[in-house]
Amino acid sequence: MKTFFNVGDIGDLDTALEEAKQVKATPYAWKKLGENRTIMLVFFNSSLRTRLSSQKAALNLGMNPIVLNIGQDSWKLETQMGVVMDGDKSEHLKEAIPVMTSYCDIIGVRSFAGLSDREYDYNETVLKQFVEYGGKPVISLESATVHPCQAFADLITIEEYRRKRRPKVVLTWAPHPKALPQAVPDSFAQWMNAADVEFVITHPHGYELDPAFAGSARVEYDQMKALEGADFVYAKNWSCPGVTNPSQYGKILSMDMGWTVDDAHMAVTDNAYFMHCLPVRRNMIVSDSVIDAPTSLVIPEAANRVVSAQVVMKRMLESL
Ligand code: CP
Repeated sequence: MKTFFNVGDIGDLDTALEEAKQVKATPYAWKKLGENRTIMLVFFNSSLRTRLSSQKAALNLGMNPIVLNIGQDSWKLETQMGVVMDGDKSEHLKEAIPVMTSYCDIIGVRSFAGLSDREYDYNETVLKQFVEYGGKPVISLESATVHPCQAFADLITIEEYRRKRRPKVVLTWAPHPKALPQAVPDSFAQWMNAADVEFVITHPHGYELDPAFAGSARVEYDQMKALEGADFVYAKNWSCPGVTNPSQYGKILSMDMGWTVDDAHMAVTDNAYFMHCLPVRRNMIVSDSVIDAPTSLVIPEAANRVVSAQVVMKRMLESL
């Protein structure tokens, strides 16, 4: 495996889920695989789960992880091509990437969407430079449009907790005071479309996900109707993807607190499990009562981030 960006990169999902089960049961069984190997984890943005779970996964495989916070631990990096570098950016990605990859065998990159230039974000301009100039396997640790380690962990969690062969999974938009990227819902939609589940997306008008990710999922604008009979409720905020109106890309179109997932929403489900990738704003995205209920999976879901990262790193090590 040379890149981990999209669901197609992991191959057959049943095989990947079986491998995840083995990795979870015996996390140290591949300790020799990563011996004398180094993974670099580069963060342009903040993280709790991704940086810790990625380091833990690397350590389980016997690898040496190096974490770099760009702009805090390093020079600020220029990501645009052809610019006169007379601002606060001291170094260009074009030099920084091959330097960083000369020190490692695998590189992971967190680089959020800027939410101002849709084309720049949806072309994954920063992530693609790591492929082009790095020459080493690249993992998206949440880039402009995808968060595959999260989506894989979500699928592992659904597989562990499903009570039906083909559960109903509902991705619901929820309000948030800051404009957030679409990477988590994009990836979640992409992975759910590939999985054997009944998948429904619900959001206010204007929040339509890019068709490349939404695929053929059913979109239901009535949140309560969407949630009826759900087995898993996956809440997430995202800003306007700019599909129907590109000028609104990255904007907040609604702060309707009626979309906050609370007991009334969960009451119409089939005793659904609640999921969120975290970090979550309580009583904006989800009520205290729902996130604190025994049916909340937010902690096991976060714990499975180690498993998903370890399967991906294992596959990359095996293909070096
Ligand atoms: N879910 C997730 O990616 O969390 P962090 O932003 O804390 O890494």
